Amino acid sequence: MPMDRRNFFARATEALGALLAAGLGLPAAFYLLSPGRRNASAWVDAAGLSQLSPRVPEEVTLRRTRLDGWKIVSEKSTAWIVKLSDTDIVAFSPQCTHLGCAYHFDEKKHEFVCPCHTSNFSLEGKVLTGPAPRPLDRFEVKVENGRVLIGALVAGANPPSKG
Ligand code: FES
Repeated sequence: MPMDRRNFFARATEALGALLAAGLGLPAAFYLLSPGRRNASAWVDAAGLSQLSPRVPEEVTLRRTRLDGWKIVSEKSTAWIVKLSDTDIVAFSPQCTHLGCAYHFDEKKHEFVCPCHTSNFSLEGKVLTGPAPRPLDRFEVKVENGRVLIGALVAGANPPSKG
């Protein structure tokens, strides 16, 4: 059956709509599914294992690069690493779990102290005195070739502490 003028315009309109949808949808799908967006948990070299003294926290600077769309973004942050033993290395987020203040390590007390509302945390990140509601947040940690690598922040990695 020959195509009349009405059918031709209907088909042409449908084809144009499909082309527009593909033109808008493909870049959006590429952006949402691109590896850069999944790269948030990339591992960062933080320190040499031999540099860390047992049970002495070390604050390290982390620089992560990630692809954000078509831009490479470099982000700087810090973490506290504690070598609890040769096989037990932990890394804490630098923010207090109460209201997010930066805490420090008190060498005399041998514990982490938050200056904002005086929460104290043990070397394992447990709350010693409140008002912090939960232990320090931890990063994923692994050791490869004598280097300590820090990954993504792990939600709820610490068991709730009691007093
Ligand atoms: S923010 Fe640390 S105790 Fe309040």
